[in-house]
Amino acid sequence: MTDIFSAIQRSAIRIKDAIDTKDIGYSQQENSSGETQLQLDIKCDMIIEEEFSNVASIHTIASEEKEHEVMLHENGKYFIAYDPLDGSSLIDVNLSVGSIFGIYENAFGAKNMVASCYVVFGPRVEMVFAHNKVKLHLLQGKDFEFVKEIRLNEKGKLNAPGGTQQNWKPYHKELVDSFFADGYRLRYSGGMVPDLHQILLKGGGLFSYPATSDKPNGKLRKLFEVFPFAFIFKKAGGEAIDGEKDLMELSHANIHDTSACFFGSHYEVQRVKEVYANN
Ligand code: AHG
Repeated sequence: MTDIFSAIQRSAIRIKDAIDTKDIGYSQQENSSGETQLQLDIKCDMIIEEEFSNVASIHTIASEEKEHEVMLHENGKYFIAYDPLDGSSLIDVNLSVGSIFGIYENAFGAKNMVASCYVVFGPRVEMVFAHNKVKLHLLQGKDFEFVKEIRLNEKGKLNAPGGTQQNWKPYHKELVDSFFADGYRLRYSGGMVPDLHQILLKGGGLFSYPATSDKPNGKLRKLFEVFPFAFIFKKAGGEAIDGEKDLMELSHANIHDTSACFFGSHYEVQRVKEVYANN
């Protein structure tokens, strides 16, 4: 696992450089989700693939930017699903973006996840790695230095509701409004990595991306986004559900499958469960 952690660190330093210097003109290609790929997305995907190609323990990779899995080392045991530059549509307005990595053993699937990691590219570059514990690291010069362990409180103060409101189910809107009525503050940038990072570091709250009338299975992808953050929230003492079920109990049929998702501290997720169970 140390060699994977080091490869992610090397990738993060190269991605930071690409963000700082690369032209962000749009390419003509589309990714498997049908979005126009930024040249920067493609560059970050290439950087990660290159770094992982040098790690013999990695069997197969799956990227949000690639339609199919790529086998790297036949004798490796780890399967890594990654989103090279999540929130890249925020690059042109200079908001924070991130990379997400789900590390699975022997095959892709929530039940096989053994570690997960994300990197936030904001005013500073930070990395959160979850294995047995959830640990925050800060890039200082060319090294990531350990900062602290992350633990969620029982209850937080932030509410990050994703998706287009006109497409929410009425009971979902009531749920979101009820948190605001209780004094929760809106914190939503449109980048999953910085939005969830804020909830983790400020002690708790709720991030939701529900099933909507236009996206009945949610928007966020299970292997690249949902499972990695579910693993992190649970290891940090929080919860992660699809409205009813623990996200880590979900299966997937295709590597690009999506799911509704709720991440938060215990109190907020219990409220989600109660509302969703009654609807
Ligand atoms: P993209 O990489 O296309 O910018 O998508 C970002 C993802 C995720 O990071 C974020 O939480 C979500 O999409 C935001 O979606 P909405 O704008 O629909 O709320």
